[in-house]
Amino acid sequence: MTAPKTFHVKSFGCQMNVYDGERMAEAMAAAGYTAAPGEDADLVVLNTCHIREKATEKVYSDIGRMKKHRPDQMIAVAGCVAQAEGAEIVRRAKVDVVVGPQAYHNLPQLVADAAKGTAAIDTDMPALSKFGALPARRRVGPSAFLTVQEGCDKFCTYCVVPYTRGAEISRPFAAIVDEAKALVEAGAKEITLLGQNVNAWSTDGEDLGSLIHTLDRIPGLARIRYTTSHPNDMTQSLIDAHRDVASLMPFLHLPVQSGNDRILKAMNRSHTRDSYLRILDRVRAARPDIALSGDFIVGFPGETEAEFADTLSLVAEVRHAMAFSFKYSPRPGTPAADLPDQIAPEVMVDRLARLQDALGRDQAAFNADTVGKRCAILIERPGRKPGQMIGKSPWLQSVVVEDGPPIGSLIDVDIVAAGPVSLTGVAVLARAA
Ligand code: 5AD
Ligand code: SF4
Repeated sequence: MTAPKTFHVKSFGCQMNVYDGERMAEAMAAAGYTAAPGEDADLVVLNTCHIREKATEKVYSDIGRMKKHRPDQMIAVAGCVAQAEGAEIVRRAKVDVVVGPQAYHNLPQLVADAAKGTAAIDTDMPALSKFGALPARRRVGPSAFLTVQEGCDKFCTYCVVPYTRGAEISRPFAAIVDEAKALVEAGAKEITLLGQNVNAWSTDGEDLGSLIHTLDRIPGLARIRYTTSHPNDMTQSLIDAHRDVASLMPFLHLPVQSGNDRILKAMNRSHTRDSYLRILDRVRAARPDIALSGDFIVGFPGETEAEFADTLSLVAEVRHAMAFSFKYSPRPGTPAADLPDQIAPEVMVDRLARLQDALGRDQAAFNADTVGKRCAILIERPGRKPGQMIGKSPWLQSVVVEDGPPIGSLIDVDIVAAGPVSLTGVAVLARAA
């Protein structure tokens, strides 16, 4: 194996993987490797996701395809499949590097080691060391991610995250503030704070609410978001921040998974349908226009039709602005995978379709309600037609504007039309003097 010169990082799964992928690319660039756009690079890093479906099998088939296409290519497997499978990936698929999510700072060294001929594996989970060892952020888009918290101690019975990402860890306050400032200097106007349980972030008496207050004071940072949250960590301080901090966008992604208490208990969610709804009441009292989002799982082992109907009735009660919904997928090593009464695939397909119908209707209704409002949008990318630009509303909707200003502009628009997944906006012209 010759040492690679070019590399390409391919990220799957959640936003944290996107962030990790960017940081790995920065570490590789700082070590002298050149980023290349496609899968033809000398080194491809597969930044994998393990949360659902046959993710592991897909990684193996991707590797097989890549090896056929270019046998001399170096392949690194990163992300949660790397953490879960470890050396097994080298045995089975003969990849060159396996690097777990807590060891990314070692990627350049692992690549150099692998170039000498033996596979390099690092799935250690040292507390926090990777962030301190990663190079500073240099150039980012107008909306940037910043990981503040990692890992999960909640052990929902269906979920593999506590095993692949390890225990809950909060990054130090000063490190986060420094990185936020660096992101703003590098071009970010919006920062989304990331964590598997981002609202569990806390250090030295600070919580996410007080962190948001501090970040709000960074000049040039116009918007703050955070994801993903757990209902049990929704502190009053964070809820109050939604009322008091204008740069904190009116959007909350708060997964509930099911509307039925027996299922929630079997999932080990440690909240009930009612306690979840009461949290939303408090959030809406603090910020009446907040857009609510959630995650749902249908077909958890043993879920009856009546229990599923409770999820539909919860959805009808909340009226989400958007949501993600999934068929339950047994994850090896998690308690729920061994439960009796696994639900038949056709039942799951049917329940998912009914749930997504309801959620789709609510999303369309939420979008329709935005028509006639004036709001700021942050332009993030060009649209499909010439001159069109697409930005995000405060409520995280995509807004298309004709003859829009350049990427990074924060402009006021009047929302004039709504489709199921995006809105049309007309720029508010600066009033003549
Ligand atoms: N099966 C289906 N969905 C899952 N999720 C997590 N684990 C599973 C699983 N085993 C979903 C949950 C979580 C989101 C990130 O993925 O809804 O909130
Ligand atoms: Fe998984 Fe539950 Fe932790 Fe979320 S809170 S990462 S669903 S174990």
